[in-house]
Amino acid sequence: MCGIIGYIGKEKAGDILIEGLRRLEYRGYDSAGIATIDNGQIKIIKSVGKLRQLEKILRNSSLSGNIGIGHTRWATHGKPSDENAHPHSDCHNQIVVVHNGIIENYIELREELIKKGHKIVSETDTEIIAHLIEEYHKNHSFEEAVSLSLKNLKGAYALGILHSQHPDTIIAARLGSPLIIGLGENEHFIASDIPAILSHTRQIIFLDEEEMAIIKADEVKVTDLNGCIKSKTFHQITWDPIMAEKDGYKHFMLKEIHEQPRAIEDTMRGNLKEDDIFLDEVKLSSEDIDKIKKVFIVACGTSYHAALVGKFMLEELSLIPTEVDIGSEFRYRQPLIDDKVLFITISQSGETADSIAALREAKRKGAKVISICNVLGSTITRESDGVIYTHAGPEIGVASTKAFTTQLVALYMFSIYLGRRKRALSPQKAKELILELRKLPQCVINVLKSAEEIKNYTKYYFKCNDFLFLGRGINYPIALEGALKLKEISYIHAEGYPAGEMKHGPIALIDENMPVVTIATESKVYDKILSNIEEVKARDGIVIALANSDNQRIMDIANHVTHISKINELLSPVLNVIPLQMLAYYIAEKRGCDVDQPRNLAKSVTVE
Ligand code: AGP
Repeated sequence: MCGIIGYIGKEKAGDILIEGLRRLEYRGYDSAGIATIDNGQIKIIKSVGKLRQLEKILRNSSLSGNIGIGHTRWATHGKPSDENAHPHSDCHNQIVVVHNGIIENYIELREELIKKGHKIVSETDTEIIAHLIEEYHKNHSFEEAVSLSLKNLKGAYALGILHSQHPDTIIAARLGSPLIIGLGENEHFIASDIPAILSHTRQIIFLDEEEMAIIKADEVKVTDLNGCIKSKTFHQITWDPIMAEKDGYKHFMLKEIHEQPRAIEDTMRGNLKEDDIFLDEVKLSSEDIDKIKKVFIVACGTSYHAALVGKFMLEELSLIPTEVDIGSEFRYRQPLIDDKVLFITISQSGETADSIAALREAKRKGAKVISICNVLGSTITRESDGVIYTHAGPEIGVASTKAFTTQLVALYMFSIYLGRRKRALSPQKAKELILELRKLPQCVINVLKSAEEIKNYTKYYFKCNDFLFLGRGINYPIALEGALKLKEISYIHAEGYPAGEMKHGPIALIDENMPVVTIATESKVYDKILSNIEEVKARDGIVIALANSDNQRIMDIANHVTHISKINELLSPVLNVIPLQMLAYYIAEKRGCDVDQPRNLAKSVTVE
């Protein structure tokens, strides 16, 4: 999970690389480095720590050159250190490489190279790539040496490669990890994702699996690993670069929380008719739909929580049994998947290795696969039969917020879509559901108005060691999501539980130090939640509740109540998760945590 950037053109490469790395830092941030070719010589500057360390060193150096590659690292092989930071070079400092992914057979390759006299200085799996190219370059051209080396690699890679004898060329390649090429006028870029180069160009080529690109300032040639030319389509990106900036907020996460009304609106846009939903890109024919007997949703982390909510929506609106699993679990069991299963993968990044593996497995078994994804051109979208894009825009904060609520909207729309086509939903019922959906952005704006009040009461709780989150039914996954948000950005231990399970164990934890966050908006099980709140209060627990404003009993017993606008129960998770995102944010902020880049985490987990 690293970030790659590369530049070739007329500008000073170093400045462009640093700017790109700044936008990629969310992908990994334990060390960073850049390399340029200056007067036929490779110059490398790298440093352990965050990007600002590297910038400090660069201020005191004279790194010139109009061609270069850069990298921000999240360690997989070898601890974060100056030696293990990328770029890595060969014995003679002629070939230099940046890499995202994992080379699985690097130990064997390393031993072979050492036997041939190569001196390997880092603990990484990446360095051997530079040495392997060096070895092949003895008898082959640069381009051939790269393709022969790639054929020896097992695992995943996105690569940027320079050779000092070819100061007019960057070679890029991908297998399993994302890489794009940005097209400018007499200048070109490579990057792990779009925001890194958006301020320079909107014309993008997505590299596909086992493709390599030979990039010069005025030419881009894409080939397969045998040197056969591939014809590629350009994509025009419409994202506004300002969307990828903090926009005046202290953290990306806070900005992204406040972007939710817009993100939801954009996700709905163009798909709603009066009494039906049109999702052109799901590409399911009426025969495909008739065949579906079961839905299987697989995802990881926050996207998995969206999947759990989706199960309630799909079962209620389309009457199709729906099973949900975690990506890393699914691939190691043997669920019954065949051509009667509709398989859905949910992923913000579209690059999560466990979700990709699950998708491939489902496809292999004959299921139709659609994905709900936020990143155009990502691996998951390209490997799916159909896609529903969440138009959340780039999500930079490691903690997922707007990606989650837009996933819920996509699932709601898809459930209506399927319900109508399976004739489980009448046009009248669909009309009512769509009317509720249209209210959602305004209801989100109303919930966001509680920000100050939530910020205020977090002063009482930011030093707590443990939190419990309770929800029931369709809001049980929201309890899980609230606990995940708090854990990942504030490092406070938190658990999400179905409220009815409290009496079977967790009730033993409750005392005057334990905040219990309870989702108590109107639902089929509202009275039962109220009893759970009474049980917490009877044991001196602290109750923070989410409720609709007309419930006096909750106002009387809870320590704090956040008011949530009324909406149908299937959409209530979208509103209920927002105060929990804000709660986690303000607690983490008061604890002085690095909200956007929490320790040990990376934005997209592209390894198993
Ligand atoms: C969410 O806050 C997380 N950081 C993480 O759980 C994330 O949702 C998970 O890794 C899945 O990512 P994806 O949606 O990009 O596949």
